Amino acid sequence: MTTAPIPRFPDGFLWGVSTSAHQIEGAADEREPSVWDAFTAEPGRVKDGSTAAVACDHYHRHREDVALLAGLGVAAYRFSVSWPRVRSPRGLDFYDRLVDDLCAAGVRPVPTLFHWDLPLGLDWLRRDTAERFAEYVSVVAGRLGDRVRKWITLNEPAEHTLLGHALGTHAPGRRLLFDALPVAHHQLLAHGLAVRALRAAGATDIGIANSHGPTWAASEDGADVAAAEFYDVLLNRLFADPLLLGTYPAGLGELMPGDVEADLSVIAEPLDWYGVNYYAPARVGAPRDTETDFSGVRMPAELPFSLREIEGRPVTDFGWPVVPEGLTELLTAFRDRYGDRLPPVVVTENGCAYDGLDDQDRIAYLDGHIRALHDALTAGVDVRGYFVWSLLDNFEWAEGYARRFGLVHVDFTTLARTPKASYRWFRDVLRAQR
Ligand code: FCB
Repeated sequence: MTTAPIPRFPDGFLWGVSTSAHQIEGAADEREPSVWDAFTAEPGRVKDGSTAAVACDHYHRHREDVALLAGLGVAAYRFSVSWPRVRSPRGLDFYDRLVDDLCAAGVRPVPTLFHWDLPLGLDWLRRDTAERFAEYVSVVAGRLGDRVRKWITLNEPAEHTLLGHALGTHAPGRRLLFDALPVAHHQLLAHGLAVRALRAAGATDIGIANSHGPTWAASEDGADVAAAEFYDVLLNRLFADPLLLGTYPAGLGELMPGDVEADLSVIAEPLDWYGVNYYAPARVGAPRDTETDFSGVRMPAELPFSLREIEGRPVTDFGWPVVPEGLTELLTAFRDRYGDRLPPVVVTENGCAYDGLDDQDRIAYLDGHIRALHDALTAGVDVRGYFVWSLLDNFEWAEGYARRFGLVHVDFTTLARTPKASYRWFRDVLRAQR
C-alpha cells in the first residue's frame, strides 16, 4: 500500500458514508412489510437463513450511529427512507428525528427515497407503482424538505431489475430474463415523476445513484467483443441514456411498455448531479451453453453474455476483484460519452467486504479508489463527492450477514458497534482534507 498522503480534493468536496434502511434499521414490526421481508421468509433465498427483522437495530440506536458519523468527521450521510415505514403511522417521525440529530451533529442528511424495499403488494411491472412512488416522495419532501437539501431518487435500478426481476436472486425473486425490462422503464418513470415532485416541494439538489463499471471483453474475438458491448448497454446505458439523453439505446425503446416517447420526456428531467456506485469492472465473454455461477449469482445460459473472472487481481471476501483504476476509466468514459449532458458526478457508493477489526485490506481498497477518483478529477471529470459503502456491517441482501462492508463492526448478537482500523484511517484522511 502507498504511504504517500492522499492528494487534496477541491474545497467543498462532499465526503460521506452510505447505508440503506432495510440493511440497518431492523424494527420490522414497526413498519409495513416489504418485498424483501417476503423474499427473506422463503427458505433458501438468503444464504445464512437470516432476516433483516433486527439487522443493526439502527431504528432504536440511531443516536449512537449519528455519534459515530460525527466522530468520523464526514460532511454528509447517505441513508434511505423506507417506503413501507413511511406508510405506517409514526414512520416519518423516525426520519424527522434522524434528520434533526444529523443536523445537530453537523452532518448533512442525504436521503435515498428508494433502496429496493418496495412495499409488499406493489409491483414494478405495473406502471401505477411509479405514480404511487411520486405521491410518497411528495409526502417525505413535505416533511423533511425544510432540512434536507440533497436528495437521491432511486438506488441502482439496474440491480433491482436484473437481480430482483430477471435472475431472481434478490426480492421479489422473479426470473423473467428480458421480460423484466418494463421494471426498468417503470423505475425510470418513477424517478422522473419523483424529480418533478421534489422540485414542486422546492428541492434544487437532486440526483440518482446508479451502479456502473467498465466492461472488458474476455478476448479480441468478435463474439466476446459483441457480448461485452451488450453488457455495457445493460449496465452503463440502459438507465444513463434515458436520464441524460432522453433516449433508450438502440433496440430497447421498442421493448418498453406504454407511451415511451412521452415517458422519456419525464425521465429526462434535468438532474443536478449524477450518482455512481462503483465496486469493480466486469469481464464479459460470449454466451456459454450451460448455466454458470458467478460471484454467487446463477447466470442462465439463455443470456447473450457470460461473466468471467478477472485474473491476477486480489479479490474481496465477496470474490469481487479489486481494480481501483476501473473507477478512473469509468468516470472518464462517462464524461467522454455524455459530454456536457453529464451533470457533476458524486460517487454514491464504493467499498468492499472483508472480515476483521484490523481491516488493512479495506484501507488498501479505499486508499486506491480515492486516489483513482483524484485521477479522474485531474483528467477533467467534474466529481463533487465520495461516499464509502458502508458505515456499519449490515444485512447484505441474499448474502445475509456474511459479508461485512462496514467501517464499524457490528456484533449481531449484542449489537455492539466497534470502529475498525478503516474507521480511524478514513477519519484521518478526512482531517487531512480539511
Ligand atoms: C450495492 C447496493 C448496496 C450494497 C452494496 C454492497 O449494489 O446498493 O445496498 O449492498 O452493493
